[in-house]
Amino acid sequence: MEWYRIAFGDVYPLVYARRDDAEAERAAAAFAPRFAVEGRVLDVACGAGRHTAAFGVWGVHTVGVDLSEFLLDEAVERRGLGGRVVCGDMRCLPFRDGSTAGAINMFTSFGYFDDEADNVRAVGEIARVLRPGGRFLLDFLNAARVTEMDTATTRREENGAVIEERREREDGGRFVAKNVQVTRPDGSQVSYRERVRLYGADELGKMLASAGLRVTARFGDYDGGAFQEQASPRAILLSEKGSTA
Ligand SMILES: C[S@@+](CC[C@H](N)C(=O)[O-])C[C@H]1O[C@@H](n2cnc3c(N)ncnc32)[C@H](O)[C@@H]1O
Repeated sequence: MEWYRIAFGDVYPLVYARRDDAEAERAAAAFAPRFAVEGRVLDVACGAGRHTAAFGVWGVHTVGVDLSEFLLDEAVERRGLGGRVVCGDMRCLPFRDGSTAGAINMFTSFGYFDDEADNVRAVGEIARVLRPGGRFLLDFLNAARVTEMDTATTRREENGAVIEERREREDGGRFVAKNVQVTRPDGSQVSYRERVRLYGADELGKMLASAGLRVTARFGDYDGGAFQEQASPRAILLSEKGSTA
């Protein structure tokens, strides 16, 4: 089974407990005003819908799409997003060409595939469903910062679960892998290895450009601060689909 089917199942809320609504609300305050447009804005890889909900509060007509049935259930049950989330794969979005006013992809929900062509395909799909002039916000980790972080093992407790993580870099530093072991509050355990392709901000910009998405601004955090390669925690790229793409 691909790692992301385990990682984004029932263990996700335990491992990423700190990635909460408050963080999504911060990002929405900084970026939702740029999506004050008529029409649907897709939250691609929405997970449990925290940004779908938070951008919605700003009047953005968000619709979430994700592969994890577990997290989509959470979006419906916990955030009341029934009718606003769809199950789908970012490599093959279930929407018509040019049908979408905007898209967001938040909190490193990109770079998961072993085959580079699949990552490129996901960006191509977002470009395909956007209408001309449509905007796309890609919120990725700042690879320049991650590469400074060498192998590290951590152990922490979240809501009664114990999470042990060991990071390593692979393929000459092009990937960061994390070996995760979760001991649930009931004592049951699950282990998996997650792996993300470390795209630098410039590389991401080129990939977006190849899909017809021109980068118009770069931010480095969830408050909308400017991107600084050596200092920013995030690489957040705002791009726009050209009228001929
Ligand atoms: C790190 S989580 C972030 C979720 C959400 N954006 C957030 O910030 O809470 C990554 C998400 O990507 C989703 N995902 C992974 N592979 C996917 C795919 N091929 N198509 C759609 N979603 C996918 C996972 O199910 C998970 O919800």
